[in-house]
Amino acid sequence: MINVETSSGGHSTPLQPSLRKWISIAPFVLDRKCSAWDNEAKWLPLSGEICKKSFLKFARYLYPTVICLLMIQLYHVYKSYEGSSAALSDITFTIAKGEFVFLTGPSGAGKTTLLKIVFGIERPTEGQIIVDGRNQSRINNRGVSLLRRKVGFVFQDFKLLPKKTVYENVALALEVIGVSPGEVRSKVQRILSYVGLRHRANFKPLSLSGGEQQRVAIARALVKQPAILLADEPTGNLDPELANSIVELFRDVNAMGTTVLMATHDKTLIERFGRRRIALDRGRIIG
Ligand SMILES: Nc1ncnc2c1ncn2[C@@H]1O[C@H](COP(=O)(O)OP(=O)(O)O)[C@@H](O)[C@H]1O
Ligand SMILES: [Mg+2]
Repeated sequence: MINVETSSGGHSTPLQPSLRKWISIAPFVLDRKCSAWDNEAKWLPLSGEICKKSFLKFARYLYPTVICLLMIQLYHVYKSYEGSSAALSDITFTIAKGEFVFLTGPSGAGKTTLLKIVFGIERPTEGQIIVDGRNQSRINNRGVSLLRRKVGFVFQDFKLLPKKTVYENVALALEVIGVSPGEVRSKVQRILSYVGLRHRANFKPLSLSGGEQQRVAIARALVKQPAILLADEPTGNLDPELANSIVELFRDVNAMGTTVLMATHDKTLIERFGRRRIALDRGRIIG
């Protein structure tokens, strides 16, 4: 039996590296991407056609387990924008359900691009992305809207609508996915209380402090009770104390089962919270 989460404080235990390797190859094998087999299987202590056939059988058997355990899977993902050097090159990693992962790297490393690709608002130039068991290159419009329900995104520049109130900004996230008005009301009130902004519900975003605007953006991402929370430098413009309280909030959300991928270049925060780190530099994973 494989335990992804331990009961102690909701901290997630990273999968054993060897197990992670084994299960990460299964979707490729099932997709019959033999080049992926050739690239990925070198680490296997096996060789030859017989082993490959047995592994195929094993992988088919294993696939439901893969879906159960992994929330985000990227394989050989590349992204280039016209007229600039590659924003992402050969990005391969997996994140298990219930993990909290920091995505680190200097400005221009590719953090925002990577988060947008996982969220599905940017398409990779090459590579495979599987989010909660769904291969993004194959999903249709219905699949995209299902993905939007599951994933909350905290944008670096908040992207709040200035003419709408705090309440309306948060409610919109539910309205666009077709939640009924009664449910919208109760969920929005609950999440505004959770982030400590109930008293600001009728304020316009621009009349709030930077820290409060950030919490509105977080409330908007969390109100859907997403399975995954993606946050793009959510503490970038905040003083250290506020930054700490935001990551504590994410830690609590994570303890309740949401998988968190948070981009940051704040070394103090990363060290304080001591979670798994994926480090990017010039579009490549360096650690
Ligand atoms: N829409 C875009 N058009 C062209 N180049 C882009 C675009 N978005 C990002 N880039 C480039 O991709 C690289 C990675 O950017 P980004 O993902 O924003 O990095 P980070 O978030 O780590 O600062 C940078 O060189 C940036 O200039
Ligand atoms: Mg960025």
